[in-house]
Amino acid sequence: MIEINNLTKIFTLNKKQMKESKTKSSKKVAVDNLSLTAHKGEIYGLLGPNGAGKTTTLRCISTIIKPTSGEIYVAGHEVQKEAEKVRNSIGFLTSDIKLDPQFSPDYMFNFFGRLHNVPKEQLKQRKEELFTYFGITDFAHKDIKELSTGMKQKAAIAVSLVHDPDIVIFDEPTNGLDIVTARGVTDYLKKLRDEGKLVIISTHIMSEAEKLCDRIGIIVDGAKIAEGTLSEILEETDTDDLEDAFFKIYKEKKGDE
Ligand SMILES: Nc1ncnc2c1ncn2[C@@H]1O[C@H](COP(=O)(O)OP(=O)(O)OP(=O)(O)O)[C@@H](O)[C@H]1O
Ligand SMILES: [Mg+2]
Repeated sequence: MIEINNLTKIFTLNKKQMKESKTKSSKKVAVDNLSLTAHKGEIYGLLGPNGAGKTTTLRCISTIIKPTSGEIYVAGHEVQKEAEKVRNSIGFLTSDIKLDPQFSPDYMFNFFGRLHNVPKEQLKQRKEELFTYFGITDFAHKDIKELSTGMKQKAAIAVSLVHDPDIVIFDEPTNGLDIVTARGVTDYLKKLRDEGKLVIISTHIMSEAEKLCDRIGIIVDGAKIAEGTLSEILEETDTDDLEDAFFKIYKEKKGDE
């Protein structure tokens, strides 16, 4: 289970960042008092526009960055107090840090396998299964810098799952993938969900959230403004699809400001 209680993350901007974001304030509230709970056996989708705070939230859950305030429990472990235990129970796919370009998928897989203390025989089996599923086998020994965007992403996904984690945290998992490759990834996430794992993803793609996610949390300006199953959200907003629902909620929120 992932439980987030009142997560706030405030970044301190340097002069260059202040200029870039056209602000006079040196504080940027990226996540604003956000709470959510996600359970095993479900795919939870954080849906929101660019800059909504999706990546920041997922990075806080994954112990990559520290919350400014609030608590996050992952499989019962608090992210700041028991970061190591959290890291062992999660597979994290980030949209910004890619695999080292000068190494091969095979090398990276073995490297992270050793880091997670995966026994040799198990590592071999996992590699066979994941590389076959994602069609990486023929590219396993090429340098990552020579691979296509899609192949890089698939290799990053395989590596993030090397230790067969119970909790899978994927930031925009289908980013840059064509529909065939994207379907392969989303089908795999469903398989993980059906095996009883907890999958949490971020996306700004409405159709992906609609088709893939068991529950959706809509996040705007760092705050969660709606949550539920697709049908719950549609019913509450009296709309027929998620895009209409999103705009209805979004306009209400912006109108209130
Ligand atoms: N390290 C950082 N330093 C300063 N500001 C940051 C930092 N990381 C994120 N931000 C800011 O926090 C806000 C939320 O960013 P975040 O990357 O979490 O959004 P996102 O929902 O993932 O957006 P996208 O869909 O573009 O990936 C943005 O305004 C961003 O500019
Ligand atoms: Mg992001």
